[in-house]
Amino acid sequence: MKSSIAILVASAVSFATSVYGHGYMTIPKSRSRLGAESGIDTCPECSILEPVTSWPDLTAAPVARSGPCGYNARVSVDYNTPATLWGNAPVVTYTAGDTVDVQWCVDHNGDHGGMFSYRICQDQALVDKLMTSGYIPTIAEKEAAEACFEAGTLSCTDVSGQSCDYSGDCTAGQACYRNDWFTCNPFSGTKCQGVDNSALGSCYTSISGGYTVTKKIKIPNYSSAHTLLSLRWNSFQTGQIYLSCADIAITGGTGTSTTSSSSTSSSSSSTSSSSSTTSSSTPSCTTLPATVAVTFNELVSTVTGETIKVVGSISQLGSWNTGSAVPLSASQYTSSNPLWAITVSIPPGTSFEYKFIKVSSSGAITWESDPNRSYTVPSDCSTSVSTSASWK
Ligand SMILES: *[C@@H]1O[C@H](CO)[C@@H](O)[C@H](O)[C@H]1NC(C)=O
Ligand SMILES: *[C@@H]1O[C@H](CO)[C@@H](O)[C@H](O)[C@H]1NC(C)=O
Repeated sequence: MKSSIAILVASAVSFATSVYGHGYMTIPKSRSRLGAESGIDTCPECSILEPVTSWPDLTAAPVARSGPCGYNARVSVDYNTPATLWGNAPVVTYTAGDTVDVQWCVDHNGDHGGMFSYRICQDQALVDKLMTSGYIPTIAEKEAAEACFEAGTLSCTDVSGQSCDYSGDCTAGQACYRNDWFTCNPFSGTKCQGVDNSALGSCYTSISGGYTVTKKIKIPNYSSAHTLLSLRWNSFQTGQIYLSCADIAITGGTGTSTTSSSSTSSSSSSTSSSSSTTSSSTPSCTTLPATVAVTFNELVSTVTGETIKVVGSISQLGSWNTGSAVPLSASQYTSSNPLWAITVSIPPGTSFEYKFIKVSSSGAITWESDPNRSYTVPSDCSTSVSTSASWK
Protein backbone atom coordinates (compact mmCIF):
# COMPACT_ATOMS: atom_id res chain seq x y z
CA MET A 1 0.00 0.00 0.00
CA LYS A 2 2.81 2.37 0.79
CA SER A 3 4.02 2.38 -2.78
CA SER A 4 0.56 2.99 -4.22
CA ILE A 5 0.05 5.94 -1.88
CA ALA A 6 3.33 7.35 -3.14
CA ILE A 7 2.09 6.97 -6.71
CA LEU A 8 -1.18 8.74 -5.92
CA VAL A 9 0.68 11.65 -4.35
CA ALA A 10 2.93 11.89 -7.39
CA SER A 11 -0.13 11.91 -9.65
CA ALA A 12 -1.76 14.65 -7.67
CA VAL A 13 1.33 16.80 -7.98
CA SER A 14 1.77 16.26 -11.69
CA PHE A 15 -1.87 17.04 -12.39
CA ALA A 16 -2.15 20.01 -10.07
CA THR A 17 -1.27 22.44 -12.81
CA SER A 18 -3.33 20.84 -15.55
CA VAL A 19 -6.81 21.88 -16.54
CA TYR A 20 -8.17 18.39 -17.06
CA GLY A 21 -11.56 17.41 -15.79
CA HIS A 22 -11.83 13.72 -15.12
CA GLY A 23 -14.72 11.38 -14.46
CA TYR A 24 -16.23 7.89 -14.54
CA MET A 25 -19.54 6.13 -13.93
CA THR A 26 -20.12 5.01 -10.35
CA ILE A 27 -23.80 3.90 -10.27
CA PRO A 28 -24.34 1.33 -11.53
CA LYS A 29 -20.85 0.12 -10.68
CA SER A 30 -18.86 0.58 -13.84
CA ARG A 31 -15.96 -1.59 -14.91
CA SER A 32 -13.74 1.40 -14.05
CA ARG A 33 -15.12 1.53 -10.50
CA LEU A 34 -14.57 -2.21 -10.08
CA GLY A 35 -11.05 -1.73 -11.41
CA ALA A 36 -10.42 0.97 -8.81
CA GLU A 37 -11.95 -0.99 -5.95
CA SER A 38 -9.77 -3.98 -6.77
CA GLY A 39 -6.63 -1.83 -6.86
CA ILE A 40 -5.94 -2.62 -10.54
CA ASP A 41 -6.81 0.90 -11.66
CA THR A 42 -5.11 3.65 -9.64
CA CYS A 43 -7.01 6.39 -11.51
CA PRO A 44 -10.53 5.26 -12.48
CA GLU A 45 -11.35 8.80 -13.66
CA CYS A 46 -8.52 8.67 -16.19
CA SER A 47 -10.05 6.74 -19.11
CA ILE A 48 -9.61 9.68 -21.47
CA LEU A 49 -10.12 9.92 -25.20
CA GLU A 50 -7.87 12.79 -26.31
CA PRO A 51 -7.06 14.97 -28.07
CA VAL A 52 -10.36 14.97 -29.89
CA THR A 53 -13.12 17.27 -31.05
CA SER A 54 -15.43 17.03 -28.06
CA TRP A 55 -17.20 20.38 -28.62
CA PRO A 56 -19.50 21.60 -30.04
CA ASP A 57 -20.29 18.43 -31.99
CA LEU A 58 -20.83 15.88 -29.24
CA THR A 59 -20.70 12.85 -31.50
CA ALA A 60 -18.06 13.95 -34.01
CA ALA A 61 -15.07 12.17 -32.55
CA PRO A 62 -14.44 8.51 -33.35
CA VAL A 63 -13.76 6.67 -30.10
CA ALA A 64 -10.96 4.56 -31.60
CA ARG A 65 -9.15 2.50 -28.97
CA SER A 66 -11.26 3.95 -26.14
CA GLY A 67 -14.43 2.21 -27.33
CA PRO A 68 -17.73 2.66 -25.45
CA CYS A 69 -16.17 1.39 -22.19
CA GLY A 70 -12.94 3.39 -22.13
CA TYR A 71 -9.23 2.69 -22.29
CA ASN A 72 -7.08 3.86 -19.39
CA ALA A 73 -3.63 4.51 -20.85
CA ARG A 74 -2.18 5.28 -17.44
CA VAL A 75 -2.60 1.73 -16.26
CA SER A 76 -2.97 0.11 -19.71
CA VAL A 77 -6.41 -1.31 -18.95
CA ASP A 78 -8.85 -1.78 -21.82
CA TYR A 79 -12.34 -1.81 -20.31
CA ASN A 80 -13.84 -3.02 -23.59
CA THR A 81 -12.99 -6.58 -22.65
CA PRO A 82 -13.89 -8.56 -19.53
CA ALA A 83 -11.34 -9.25 -16.80
CA THR A 84 -11.51 -11.46 -13.74
CA LEU A 85 -13.31 -8.80 -11.69
CA TRP A 86 -15.62 -7.24 -14.27
CA GLY A 87 -17.44 -7.93 -17.48
CA ASN A 88 -18.52 -11.50 -16.78
CA ALA A 89 -21.90 -10.89 -15.17
CA PRO A 90 -24.35 -8.01 -14.68
CA VAL A 91 -23.85 -5.90 -11.55
CA VAL A 92 -27.54 -4.95 -11.52
CA THR A 93 -30.79 -6.01 -13.18
CA TYR A 94 -33.20 -3.32 -14.35
CA THR A 95 -36.78 -3.64 -15.52
CA ALA A 96 -37.75 -2.20 -18.90
CA GLY A 97 -39.66 1.04 -18.52
CA ASP A 98 -38.35 1.75 -15.02
CA THR A 99 -36.79 5.10 -14.15
CA VAL A 100 -33.54 4.63 -12.20
CA ASP A 101 -30.81 6.78 -10.67
CA VAL A 102 -27.44 6.74 -12.36
CA GLN A 103 -24.36 8.58 -11.22
CA TRP A 104 -20.88 9.48 -12.28
CA CYS A 105 -18.09 11.14 -10.41
CA VAL A 106 -16.23 14.25 -11.58
CA ASP A 107 -12.80 15.06 -10.23
CA HIS A 108 -12.31 18.37 -8.43
CA ASN A 109 -9.25 19.14 -10.50
CA GLY A 110 -10.51 20.91 -13.59
CA ASP A 111 -14.23 20.16 -13.22
CA HIS A 112 -14.63 21.22 -16.79
CA GLY A 113 -18.30 21.31 -17.41
CA GLY A 114 -19.67 19.85 -20.60
CA MET A 115 -22.40 17.45 -21.59
CA PHE A 116 -22.86 13.76 -20.91
CA SER A 117 -25.09 10.96 -22.05
CA TYR A 118 -26.02 7.46 -20.94
CA ARG A 119 -26.46 4.96 -23.72
CA ILE A 120 -27.66 1.40 -24.28
CA CYS A 121 -26.94 -0.40 -27.55
CA GLN A 122 -29.78 -2.75 -28.48
CA ASP A 123 -27.74 -4.86 -30.89
CA GLN A 124 -26.52 -7.77 -28.80
CA ALA A 125 -24.05 -8.94 -31.45
CA LEU A 126 -22.21 -5.60 -31.30
CA VAL A 127 -22.24 -5.50 -27.48
CA ASP A 128 -21.06 -9.09 -27.27
CA LYS A 129 -17.75 -7.99 -28.83
CA LEU A 130 -17.13 -6.05 -25.59
CA MET A 131 -18.08 -9.00 -23.40
CA THR A 132 -16.02 -11.82 -24.87
CA SER A 133 -13.53 -13.16 -22.37
CA GLY A 134 -9.96 -13.02 -23.60
CA TYR A 135 -10.86 -11.02 -26.69
CA ILE A 136 -9.83 -7.41 -27.34
CA PRO A 137 -12.26 -5.91 -29.86
CA THR A 138 -10.78 -4.38 -32.99
CA ILE A 139 -11.00 -0.63 -33.55
CA ALA A 140 -13.71 -1.25 -36.16
CA GLU A 141 -15.71 -3.31 -33.65
CA LYS A 142 -15.35 -0.59 -31.02
CA GLU A 143 -16.52 2.05 -33.52
CA ALA A 144 -19.45 -0.12 -34.62
CA ALA A 145 -20.49 -0.60 -31.01
CA GLU A 146 -20.08 3.12 -30.31
CA ALA A 147 -22.33 4.01 -33.26
CA CYS A 148 -24.97 1.71 -31.79
CA PHE A 149 -24.55 3.23 -28.32
CA GLU A 150 -24.96 6.71 -29.79
CA ALA A 151 -28.12 5.58 -31.56
CA GLY A 152 -29.29 4.28 -28.18
CA THR A 153 -28.77 7.53 -26.28
CA LEU A 154 -31.15 7.58 -23.30
CA SER A 155 -32.84 10.92 -23.56
CA CYS A 156 -33.01 13.21 -20.56
CA THR A 157 -36.47 14.27 -21.74
CA ASP A 158 -37.81 10.69 -21.46
CA VAL A 159 -37.94 11.06 -17.68
CA SER A 160 -41.02 12.99 -16.62
CA GLY A 161 -40.35 15.74 -14.14
CA GLN A 162 -36.63 15.87 -14.87
CA SER A 163 -35.39 19.25 -16.02
CA CYS A 164 -33.40 18.99 -19.22
CA ASP A 165 -31.44 22.10 -19.96
CA TYR A 166 -29.41 23.33 -22.87
CA SER A 167 -25.78 23.82 -21.93
CA GLY A 168 -24.96 27.42 -21.05
CA ASP A 169 -21.78 27.02 -23.09
CA CYS A 170 -23.73 26.17 -26.24
CA THR A 171 -25.85 28.44 -28.41
CA ALA A 172 -28.74 27.70 -30.74
CA GLY A 173 -27.51 26.41 -34.06
CA GLN A 174 -24.49 24.67 -32.62
CA ALA A 175 -24.45 20.88 -32.71
CA CYS A 176 -24.32 20.78 -28.91
CA TYR A 177 -27.64 22.64 -28.67
CA ARG A 178 -29.65 19.59 -27.65
CA ASN A 179 -31.40 18.70 -24.44
CA ASP A 180 -31.59 14.97 -25.02
CA TRP A 181 -28.10 14.79 -23.52
CA PHE A 182 -27.52 15.85 -19.92
CA THR A 183 -25.62 19.04 -19.24
CA CYS A 184 -23.34 20.40 -16.57
CA ASN A 185 -23.53 24.07 -15.58
CA PRO A 186 -21.77 26.71 -17.71
CA PHE A 187 -18.01 26.84 -17.53
CA SER A 188 -18.19 30.12 -15.63
CA GLY A 189 -20.20 28.55 -12.81
CA THR A 190 -19.99 25.42 -10.73
CA LYS A 191 -19.74 23.24 -13.86
CA CYS A 192 -20.43 19.53 -13.37
CA GLN A 193 -20.00 19.88 -9.62
CA GLY A 194 -23.11 22.04 -9.57
CA VAL A 195 -25.37 19.27 -10.87
CA ASP A 196 -25.66 17.76 -7.36
CA ASN A 197 -23.98 20.56 -5.39
CA SER A 198 -22.41 17.73 -3.42
CA ALA A 199 -19.45 17.97 -1.08
CA LEU A 200 -15.89 17.28 -2.14
CA GLY A 201 -15.23 13.60 -1.56
CA SER A 202 -18.84 12.54 -2.07
CA CYS A 203 -17.40 9.97 -4.50
CA TYR A 204 -13.93 8.58 -5.07
CA THR A 205 -11.40 9.97 -7.49
CA SER A 206 -7.67 9.56 -7.11
CA ILE A 207 -6.42 12.99 -8.16
CA SER A 208 -8.23 15.68 -6.17
CA GLY A 209 -11.36 14.03 -4.88
CA GLY A 210 -14.71 13.86 -6.58
CA TYR A 211 -18.26 15.18 -6.69
CA THR A 212 -21.25 13.02 -7.56
CA VAL A 213 -23.29 13.88 -10.64
CA THR A 214 -26.69 12.16 -10.40
CA LYS A 215 -29.45 11.92 -13.01
CA LYS A 216 -32.36 9.66 -13.86
CA ILE A 217 -32.66 7.52 -16.95
CA LYS A 218 -35.58 5.52 -18.28
CA ILE A 219 -34.66 1.93 -19.12
CA PRO A 220 -35.75 1.22 -22.71
CA ASN A 221 -38.25 -1.42 -23.75
CA TYR A 222 -35.60 -4.03 -24.38
CA SER A 223 -34.42 -7.24 -22.76
CA SER A 224 -30.97 -8.71 -22.39
CA ALA A 225 -29.50 -11.14 -19.88
CA HIS A 226 -26.22 -9.25 -20.13
CA THR A 227 -25.62 -5.94 -21.84
CA LEU A 228 -23.89 -2.62 -21.15
CA LEU A 229 -24.79 0.86 -20.00
CA SER A 230 -22.21 3.35 -21.27
CA LEU A 231 -21.45 6.90 -20.09
CA ARG A 232 -19.91 9.41 -22.47
CA TRP A 233 -18.88 12.77 -21.01
CA ASN A 234 -17.78 15.38 -23.53
CA SER A 235 -15.73 17.90 -21.61
CA PHE A 236 -16.22 21.55 -22.53
CA GLN A 237 -13.11 23.59 -23.39
CA THR A 238 -10.72 20.65 -23.39
CA GLY A 239 -10.65 18.26 -26.33
CA GLN A 240 -11.44 15.32 -24.09
CA ILE A 241 -14.11 12.68 -23.79
CA TYR A 242 -14.47 10.25 -20.89
CA LEU A 243 -15.99 6.84 -21.43
CA SER A 244 -16.98 4.10 -19.03
CA CYS A 245 -19.53 1.31 -18.93
CA ALA A 246 -21.32 -0.99 -16.53
CA ASP A 247 -22.49 -4.56 -17.03
CA ILE A 248 -26.26 -4.71 -16.59
CA ALA A 249 -29.26 -6.93 -17.33
CA ILE A 250 -32.71 -5.78 -18.43
CA THR A 251 -35.87 -7.83 -17.97
CA GLY A 252 -39.46 -7.32 -19.02
CA GLY A 253 -38.89 -5.62 -22.37
CA THR A 254 -39.98 -6.81 -25.76
CA GLY A 255 -37.22 -5.57 -28.00
CA THR A 256 -34.84 -8.50 -27.69
CA SER A 257 -32.14 -8.74 -30.29
CA THR A 258 -30.59 -11.99 -31.30
CA THR A 259 -26.98 -13.00 -31.24
CA SER A 260 -27.26 -15.83 -33.71
CA SER A 261 -28.27 -14.14 -36.94
CA SER A 262 -25.31 -11.88 -37.50
CA SER A 263 -24.37 -11.79 -41.14
CA THR A 264 -20.92 -11.30 -42.44
CA SER A 265 -20.14 -8.34 -44.58
CA SER A 266 -17.57 -7.74 -47.21
CA SER A 267 -15.96 -4.47 -48.10
CA SER A 268 -14.98 -5.24 -51.66
CA SER A 269 -14.62 -2.09 -53.59
CA SER A 270 -12.59 -0.58 -56.35
CA THR A 271 -10.78 2.70 -56.27
CA SER A 272 -11.88 3.61 -59.78
CA SER A 273 -15.55 2.93 -59.44
CA SER A 274 -18.24 5.09 -57.98
CA SER A 275 -20.73 2.29 -57.77
CA SER A 276 -21.92 0.89 -54.51
CA THR A 277 -21.82 -2.74 -53.55
CA THR A 278 -23.83 -4.28 -50.80
CA SER A 279 -23.48 -7.67 -49.29
CA SER A 280 -25.43 -9.58 -46.75
CA SER A 281 -26.36 -13.16 -46.11
CA THR A 282 -29.98 -14.01 -45.50
CA PRO A 283 -30.27 -15.58 -42.06
CA SER A 284 -33.65 -16.35 -40.56
CA CYS A 285 -35.30 -15.11 -37.41
CA THR A 286 -38.70 -14.91 -35.78
CA THR A 287 -38.54 -11.19 -34.96
CA LEU A 288 -36.56 -8.67 -36.91
CA PRO A 289 -33.69 -6.96 -35.10
CA ALA A 290 -34.54 -3.46 -33.84
CA THR A 291 -31.68 -2.08 -35.90
CA VAL A 292 -29.20 -3.27 -38.47
CA ALA A 293 -25.54 -2.26 -38.23
CA VAL A 294 -24.95 -0.61 -41.60
CA THR A 295 -21.27 -0.06 -42.37
CA PHE A 296 -20.45 2.68 -44.85
CA ASN A 297 -17.07 2.17 -46.52
CA GLU A 298 -15.81 5.04 -48.66
CA LEU A 299 -12.51 5.05 -50.51
CA VAL A 300 -11.30 8.64 -50.70
CA SER A 301 -7.85 10.16 -50.45
CA THR A 302 -7.59 12.93 -47.90
CA VAL A 303 -4.90 15.17 -46.47
CA THR A 304 -4.18 15.69 -42.79
CA GLY A 305 -6.97 17.67 -41.15
CA GLU A 306 -9.68 16.57 -43.56
CA THR A 307 -12.55 14.41 -42.34
CA ILE A 308 -15.08 12.41 -44.30
CA LYS A 309 -18.66 12.39 -43.06
CA VAL A 310 -21.91 10.89 -44.26
CA VAL A 311 -25.12 12.91 -44.28
CA GLY A 312 -28.53 11.86 -45.50
CA SER A 313 -32.28 11.99 -45.33
CA ILE A 314 -32.76 10.13 -42.02
CA SER A 315 -32.12 11.34 -38.50
CA GLN A 316 -29.37 8.73 -38.01
CA LEU A 317 -27.51 10.50 -40.83
CA GLY A 318 -28.27 14.03 -39.68
CA SER A 319 -31.41 14.72 -41.77
CA TRP A 320 -29.30 16.45 -44.44
CA ASN A 321 -27.90 18.82 -41.80
CA THR A 322 -24.14 18.86 -42.29
CA GLY A 323 -23.71 19.97 -38.66
CA SER A 324 -25.14 16.61 -37.64
CA ALA A 325 -23.36 14.52 -40.29
CA VAL A 326 -21.76 11.31 -39.03
CA PRO A 327 -17.96 11.27 -39.20
CA LEU A 328 -16.23 8.25 -40.65
CA SER A 329 -13.14 6.75 -39.06
CA ALA A 330 -9.78 6.68 -40.83
CA SER A 331 -8.45 3.99 -38.51
CA GLN A 332 -7.96 1.58 -41.42
CA TYR A 333 -6.71 4.26 -43.85
CA THR A 334 -3.52 3.64 -45.81
CA SER A 335 -2.18 5.44 -48.87
CA SER A 336 -2.82 2.37 -51.01
CA ASN A 337 -6.26 1.74 -49.50
CA PRO A 338 -7.66 5.14 -48.42
CA LEU A 339 -10.60 3.66 -46.51
CA TRP A 340 -12.93 5.73 -44.37
CA ALA A 341 -15.60 3.72 -42.58
CA ILE A 342 -18.36 3.98 -40.01
CA THR A 343 -21.14 1.73 -38.80
CA VAL A 344 -24.54 3.24 -38.08
CA SER A 345 -27.52 1.43 -36.51
CA ILE A 346 -30.64 1.87 -38.64
CA PRO A 347 -33.99 0.04 -38.40
CA PRO A 348 -34.54 -2.70 -41.01
CA GLY A 349 -36.52 -1.65 -44.07
CA THR A 350 -35.46 2.00 -43.85
CA SER A 351 -34.92 3.65 -47.25
CA PHE A 352 -32.86 6.77 -47.45
CA GLU A 353 -30.69 8.99 -49.63
CA TYR A 354 -27.25 10.17 -48.64
CA LYS A 355 -23.93 11.59 -49.75
CA PHE A 356 -20.45 11.71 -48.34
CA ILE A 357 -18.94 15.10 -47.59
CA LYS A 358 -15.36 16.14 -47.10
CA VAL A 359 -14.77 18.60 -44.26
CA SER A 360 -11.51 20.55 -44.25
CA SER A 361 -9.68 21.57 -41.10
CA SER A 362 -11.24 25.05 -41.49
CA GLY A 363 -14.71 23.51 -41.65
CA ALA A 364 -15.21 24.05 -45.39
CA ILE A 365 -17.47 21.37 -46.86
CA THR A 366 -17.11 19.64 -50.23
CA TRP A 367 -20.09 17.58 -51.37
CA GLU A 368 -19.95 14.51 -53.56
CA SER A 369 -21.39 15.10 -57.02
CA ASP A 370 -24.99 14.28 -57.90
CA PRO A 371 -27.03 12.18 -57.92
CA ASN A 372 -27.68 11.36 -54.28
CA ARG A 373 -26.77 7.85 -53.22
CA SER A 374 -29.67 5.71 -52.02
CA TYR A 375 -29.94 2.65 -49.85
CA THR A 376 -32.56 0.43 -48.26
CA VAL A 377 -31.66 -1.45 -45.11
CA PRO A 378 -32.57 -5.12 -45.64
CA SER A 379 -35.39 -6.54 -43.55
CA ASP A 380 -34.31 -10.15 -43.98
CA CYS A 381 -33.04 -10.75 -40.42
CA SER A 382 -29.52 -9.54 -41.20
CA THR A 383 -28.01 -7.72 -38.24
CA SER A 384 -25.07 -6.25 -40.13
CA VAL A 385 -24.53 -5.22 -43.73
CA SER A 386 -22.07 -3.03 -45.54
CA THR A 387 -22.04 -0.77 -48.54
CA SER A 388 -18.84 0.26 -50.27
CA ALA A 389 -18.14 3.07 -52.68
CA SER A 390 -15.56 5.56 -53.88
CA TRP A 391 -15.66 9.34 -53.82
CA LYS A 392 -17.45 10.84 -56.81
C1 LIG B 1 -42.92 -2.75 -24.74
O1 LIG B 1 -43.49 -2.71 -26.02
C2 LIG B 1 -44.58 -3.63 -26.13
C3 LIG B 1 -45.04 -3.68 -27.59
O2 LIG B 1 -44.73 -2.51 -28.28
C4 LIG B 1 -45.69 -3.21 -25.19
O3 LIG B 1 -46.78 -4.12 -25.27
C5 LIG B 1 -45.14 -3.20 -23.78
O4 LIG B 1 -46.13 -2.73 -22.88
C6 LIG B 1 -43.91 -2.33 -23.68
N1 LIG B 1 -43.32 -2.49 -22.36
C7 LIG B 1 -42.90 -1.46 -21.66
C8 LIG B 1 -42.29 -1.79 -20.34
O5 LIG B 1 -42.98 -0.29 -22.05
C1 LIG C 1 -30.43 15.14 -52.97
O1 LIG C 1 -31.27 15.27 -51.83
C2 LIG C 1 -31.48 16.61 -51.45
C3 LIG C 1 -32.28 16.59 -50.15
O2 LIG C 1 -33.49 15.88 -50.32
C4 LIG C 1 -32.22 17.34 -52.56
O3 LIG C 1 -32.39 18.69 -52.17
C5 LIG C 1 -31.40 17.26 -53.81
O4 LIG C 1 -32.13 17.83 -54.87
C6 LIG C 1 -31.07 15.82 -54.16
N1 LIG C 1 -30.18 15.79 -55.29
C7 LIG C 1 -30.54 15.26 -56.47
C8 LIG C 1 -29.57 15.35 -57.57
O5 LIG C 1 -31.61 14.68 -56.60
